[in-house]
Amino acid sequence: MDKLSIAVVGAGKLGRLIIHRLLTHVDPASIHLCRKDPNRLGELAQEFPGCRVHTNAQAAVDRSGVAILAVKPPDLGPLAAMLGFNGQAVLSLITGKSFGTLISTLGTTNLVRASTSILLETGSAQTTWMAHPQVETHSLSVCLRIMKEWGELTEAQTEHDLAVTIVSSGALPGILATDLLDYVYALQALGEQNAEQKTLRTLKVLCEQCLEKNCSLESKVSQVKTPGGITIAATDVLEQANHQTTIAEALQASLSRVYELDG
Ligand SMILES: NC(=O)c1ccc[n+]([C@@H]2O[C@H](COP(=O)([O-])OP(=O)(O)OC[C@H]3O[C@@H](n4cnc5c(N)ncnc54)[C@H](OP(=O)(O)O)[C@@H]3O)[C@@H](O)[C@H]2O)c1
Repeated sequence: MDKLSIAVVGAGKLGRLIIHRLLTHVDPASIHLCRKDPNRLGELAQEFPGCRVHTNAQAAVDRSGVAILAVKPPDLGPLAAMLGFNGQAVLSLITGKSFGTLISTLGTTNLVRASTSILLETGSAQTTWMAHPQVETHSLSVCLRIMKEWGELTEAQTEHDLAVTIVSSGALPGILATDLLDYVYALQALGEQNAEQKTLRTLKVLCEQCLEKNCSLESKVSQVKTPGGITIAATDVLEQANHQTTIAEALQASLSRVYELDG
């Protein structure tokens, strides 16, 4: 990437991964960092040597051509109150914050919204993006160049599509990890010593077979549904407990939360 200066506003869980990813292809001196707690700026300087660390977001943004916003939704208001833009592109990863809210708080339409996940650390995320119709062409191409390094890119046609991908790509790694952990605990309760390793390896093979060998999940399920067998004994219990309905309700709750966060 050519000499472009990038501000990362919000160096928390997601922001840190973004910075680590940027450092694989961008000169550290062109990355401008800040955080809410100015007393802990030293930690940022230590973790990201060579990057420019600033006492506030405005100082970081003033020195940049693009500002990546990775703060928690409730922090947008206080951040926007002290922040002004002078032509910078804004790439917002703030969950739920719609273009309407971003424009009214930040006072710019030079905006791209995106939903991504922690998998961007290894360039394996599925990132969905949407540009505001008034975004500048150069700003959009810069944002796309940054996001391309995170993994697969898809353009959303509507903000609802983006909200759905915040659940299906952004929240899914965490939701699945939580669910898998329940299987690990249950196997441990049965006495399995290597429950975590076995669960993860099994999942890896299942994913490889489905993704690389063109085998659908449905066909996998039908393979194991042997009447009177041990797998069906377990899946029957899940069905009786309305597991599928619970999952649908859980994902609907996640989507509802995306919309609530815009408030
Ligand atoms: N974590 C994920 O997996 C993930 C995935 C997809 C999307 N997201 C979205 O990404 C955003 C960040 O999530 P997160 O989990 O990374 O949150 P987080 O760990 O709480 O990080 C938020 C960061 O924002 C900083 N911050 C807040 N106000 C600021 C200000 N005025 N100036 C400079 N920095 C400021 C905080 O600074 P201090 O550290 O000094 O308090 C903190 O480092 C959220 O909108 C979230 O929904 C997260």
